[in-house]
Amino acid sequence: MALREIRKINDEILRKKSRKVDSVDERIRILLDDMVDTMHENMGAGLAAVQVGILKRLIVIDIEDEHGILKIVNPEIIETFGTDIKSEGCLSVPGINGDVIRPKKLVLVGLNENGEEIRVEAQDLLARAICHEVDHLDGILFVDKIEE
Ligand code: CO
Repeated sequence: MALREIRKINDEILRKKSRKVDSVDERIRILLDDMVDTMHENMGAGLAAVQVGILKRLIVIDIEDEHGILKIVNPEIIETFGTDIKSEGCLSVPGINGDVIRPKKLVLVGLNENGEEIRVEAQDLLARAICHEVDHLDGILFVDKIEE
């Protein structure tokens, strides 16, 4: 188990665009495991690699439902359905919560930690977590989207 330091909102790396992963190798798997450990240690529901200072398109999510721990390489949201507004927070933005509009349902494609193609159909909290983490890969923070 290895914990990594979580970058906070004033760190400009959080505003950068992450790059696609070319090959899912042992180094990527170790990073994904470290991201999961760091997320759990800080009681988060999701984490993007940029939040530990690495500009690669990797996200991990654990909302403690039947999907278990998701580790996704090069995630891409290919379809969305409906809208839903709920409060969000972020480990990179401690102490702040705010309502954000997200899709009610979505379809995500990407690769798992073995480099195999996966497809995830998500709704409600999982859909919200996926959107939040994928936004991180494009330098977007939830505070950019808070409804007044
Ligand atoms: Co976040």
